[in-house]
Amino acid sequence: MSSGSAKGSIPLLELKREVEFLKDELMERMEEILRSGVFILGPHVRALEEEVARYLGVKHAVGVNSGTDALKIALRAIGIGPGDEVITVAFTFLANAEVIVELGAKPVFVDIEPDTFNLNPDLLESYISPRTKAIIVVHLFGHPADMGPIMEIAERHGLKVIEDCAQAFGAEYKSRKVGSIGHLGTFSFYPTKNLSAYGDGGMVVTNDDELARKVRLLRNHGAERKYYSIEPGYNSRLDEIQAGILLVKLKYIDAWNDRRREIASIYSKALANTPLIPPQEKEWAKHVYHQYTIRVPGGKRDQLRTWLFDKGITTAIYYPYPIYDMPAYQAYKPTKGLEQTEKACEEVLSLPMWHFMIDEEAEYVADKLREAARELF
Ligand SMILES: Cc1ncc(COP(=O)(O)O)c(C=O)c1O
Repeated sequence: MSSGSAKGSIPLLELKREVEFLKDELMERMEEILRSGVFILGPHVRALEEEVARYLGVKHAVGVNSGTDALKIALRAIGIGPGDEVITVAFTFLANAEVIVELGAKPVFVDIEPDTFNLNPDLLESYISPRTKAIIVVHLFGHPADMGPIMEIAERHGLKVIEDCAQAFGAEYKSRKVGSIGHLGTFSFYPTKNLSAYGDGGMVVTNDDELARKVRLLRNHGAERKYYSIEPGYNSRLDEIQAGILLVKLKYIDAWNDRRREIASIYSKALANTPLIPPQEKEWAKHVYHQYTIRVPGGKRDQLRTWLFDKGITTAIYYPYPIYDMPAYQAYKPTKGLEQTEKACEEVLSLPMWHFMIDEEAEYVADKLREAARELF
């Protein structure tokens, strides 16, 4: 690995070192693709689909244009449309509600567990109505949601479960890779993700042959063969260049996720016995730390953020608003606010986290956290 940036200048995420490390392999792959003259849904996309399916332990993987499209196509594949309700969370990226609303369905928001920030299975059943058709479960920040009880409730009520794994490539629930547990799993390869392209990209995975067939149709205009659509679909194809980049990077994903776990443990050690609350990892989980997100109690989150920024450490707030508080989604605001969702929005702070961060940088952040805990609390 190349030497790190200077102490005191630690971005939230940095990709230049990764590009430098992969440069030769990427260039070779790019040259091969450019010389082939095949740019959309070609051999690299097919190879990536096979390798991702093998890695996750699923039968089918279908490359699409983004994580948002992956969610939308997954919902279409299970027939979601006007009048349907889809249960999900409001403490997540806004695409989770956007795709539901775009299809004319209604998002119904359930509160989260305070320790994992994920959908609380104990509350799930009370939100199921005769209109409920599906649940979108998000494995937020790289920590899996508690899939066992969620699948049990879904099966009892005949609901389909989509796992949104945008932030959790390689994460495990009871030794099973996320994405392989629900009826469909969706992934984003946006550049900031643990496994990322250098542009937009996404994937839908499933063990169900019929759902896989539908997803393949929908990503390419619903066309069964050239110029012959059987239902309106989308132009949502993964391109060869992005697939080539992802094939190179997939080989390193376990090592990179392990590195994220090492950085997380440096931070967590520093936070022990301070008022700052580190992220939790359940005994049944393998967390891949897409984000390392702490809770800052006592209304001091923004103060800590500024304090760290002054020491050269960039942080972020994922997510500052519950989805239902945004103008686009206020029509779906629950009558009673979701207590844990709103508390999380007020307290969370995500620290620098990327797999090419060196120990010296992680230790610098850790030292500053210890210092802040003494000075500000
Ligand atoms: C949880 C979650 N779902 C969906 C998406 C959407 O993915 P994309 O940006 O590739 O459309 C993202 C990414 O930002 C995400 O974090």
